[in-house]
Amino acid sequence: MSKLLAVWGPTGAPGRTTVAINVASELAELGQSVLLIDADSYGGAIAPALGLIDDAAGFAAACRLAESGTLTAGDIENLSHSVSMSAGMLNVLSGITRTDRWPELTAERVKNVLACAAEAYDAIVVDVGFNLETDEEITSDLFAPRRNAATLTVLKHADCIVEVASADALGIARFIRAHDVLVDLYPQSLRLIVVNKVRTGLDPRGSSHAAETLSRFAGLHEVYELPLDEKALNASYASGKPLSMSAHTSKLRKKFAGIAQVLQPQRNVA
Ligand SMILES: Nc1ncnc2c1ncn2[C@@H]1O[C@H](COP(=O)(O)OP(=O)(O)OP(=O)(O)O)[C@@H](O)[C@H]1O
Ligand SMILES: [Mg+2]
Repeated sequence: MSKLLAVWGPTGAPGRTTVAINVASELAELGQSVLLIDADSYGGAIAPALGLIDDAAGFAAACRLAESGTLTAGDIENLSHSVSMSAGMLNVLSGITRTDRWPELTAERVKNVLACAAEAYDAIVVDVGFNLETDEEITSDLFAPRRNAATLTVLKHADCIVEVASADALGIARFIRAHDVLVDLYPQSLRLIVVNKVRTGLDPRGSSHAAETLSRFAGLHEVYELPLDEKALNASYASGKPLSMSAHTSKLRKKFAGIAQVLQPQRNVA
């Protein structure tokens, strides 16, 4: 089976999209066939970050086909953008560009798209929204669309949740609160914790401070740190390429390559 990786983090733009794009591209560089899905129902960001001209919202289109029960792996391939890597290919299902299209991403449809993709790809990396609220409290209609259905469905089925925290004080505080909610919802999930935007040079308390806070207050003792590196990401945005192709030698890129090694799905050897 494919490995489904959900990339989640609290509100405050900790770097979910950046992590999703670069984990997916590093897996592709390792020779995996990878599908990157933008399932953030608060607005798609992957297509613009990769310089893809996109009006189609491939993920929403796949969801529509899934509803009618006709979705095939070939459809997913056709609806996705192909991004060439140095050593492989990354397929991208882009997200909704207008946030009011979220009702198209229902739980059942999303589940079916994931199941179909699982047959065709080694790894599926999904950028999900921050919001973990279920809407049951505010609607009595059992069948009403749910604002966060896509996020919650992906998290529920994920083989591993990559949780992204921003290394600043507010980012860590937000992360700890939201992480508790996530654990309540999905206590059994495997998780990998990433602390992003770590300032190493300037901040005397630096990386160890954020990691230490997570260890002491959230019981998270193993975290992966990613440095703040605007230069590398500017190169990525300017070229519309992931870091593996735009800032190959940067420390940030090397950290992503290390995380991909850890997350790399095992292939079944016949
Ligand atoms: N390690 C980093 N170093 C420097 N800048 C970073 C780093 N990671 C992310 N950023 C920047 O932070 C901003 C937010 O990143 P990103 O869009 O990945 O976050 P997000 O969690 O997906 O946000 P959103 O809530 O908008 O979905 C972007 O401008 C991105 O370039
Ligand atoms: Mg995002």
